[in-house]
Amino acid sequence: MARVCVIGSFNLDHVWRVPALPQAGATLAGRYATGPGGKGFNQAIAAARAGADTRFICALGDDAGARLARELCANDGIDLHAAASAAPTGTAGIYVDAEGRNCIVIGAGANAELAPAWVSAHLPALIADDVVLAQLESPLDAVAQALASGAAAGAVCILNPAPANVAISQILLDHVHILTPNETEFVALLNRHVGERVDADAVAGLDQPRLHALCRTLLPEGSVIITLGASGCFVSHANSHLRGDEHACYRISAEPAHVVDTTGAGDAFNGALAASLAQRPQRAFIEHVRFAGRYAARSTEHAGAALAMPKLPVA
Ligand code: RIB
Ligand code: NA
Repeated sequence: MARVCVIGSFNLDHVWRVPALPQAGATLAGRYATGPGGKGFNQAIAAARAGADTRFICALGDDAGARLARELCANDGIDLHAAASAAPTGTAGIYVDAEGRNCIVIGAGANAELAPAWVSAHLPALIADDVVLAQLESPLDAVAQALASGAAAGAVCILNPAPANVAISQILLDHVHILTPNETEFVALLNRHVGERVDADAVAGLDQPRLHALCRTLLPEGSVIITLGASGCFVSHANSHLRGDEHACYRISAEPAHVVDTTGAGDAFNGALAASLAQRPQRAFIEHVRFAGRYAARSTEHAGAALAMPKLPVA
């Protein structure tokens, strides 16, 4: 069976639940918890718990965070390929408010040391239905290496362009088959690559032809899925025929959820999408997107990031 190769970060998340996100100069009391996270690791756990044969390529320090990462990968059957770094394992400080919204600060640590040579040496011999999945919490040359190798082998290359504050090159986008920004990441990409200024809050309200046209200019050859939180998502294809969908663009509404914590919801979506594509390549794309949406909704019903990923195999 095809597999999912996730290239990305592992972070030890330090999470404070607060009544409201802090303002400058404020001191707040919050409920503290720590747990595993990092966009790469969250996506790998989601892929594995959605039933996919999953490899995770990352960089770890030599500390408690790294030991936790190894233990969790072993428990979830993830094939871990971690470069050893002298830097501390990545960390994140996260505030979550009463509505489950969050605000995140990252200490890249070892994640910043993931080298392209490690990535190419640890990617398996890829086959056509394999899925390569990357984000932007790792060095861009390592991400570019993963996408270029994946594209050269005919694998499906997904880039989750998160977080939004990282500027990527056009060359990197050229190897992407499926781009999965949220509203903030979408407007950042539009601003940089298309020269269009759109307000992130307005994205969910734009009409379909307009969104489709923007996606086509951003990624002329590939598919774009804009994840819109409670508004579901918008899908735009260059060629719906290739993806087995009836329409070149469409919206999918969100699954209802009893939201506790949205941290890692985007990661849940991406990991589940990759897992569905790898395990059921013959399905229409819309079915993969629906599964990813269901999976992400369930992940918001639990506190935390990686440990909130449900065990929900692709049926
Ligand atoms: O996407 C959520 C993740 O972002 C958290 O787990 C945190 O580690 C940051 O990487
Ligand atoms: Na969660």
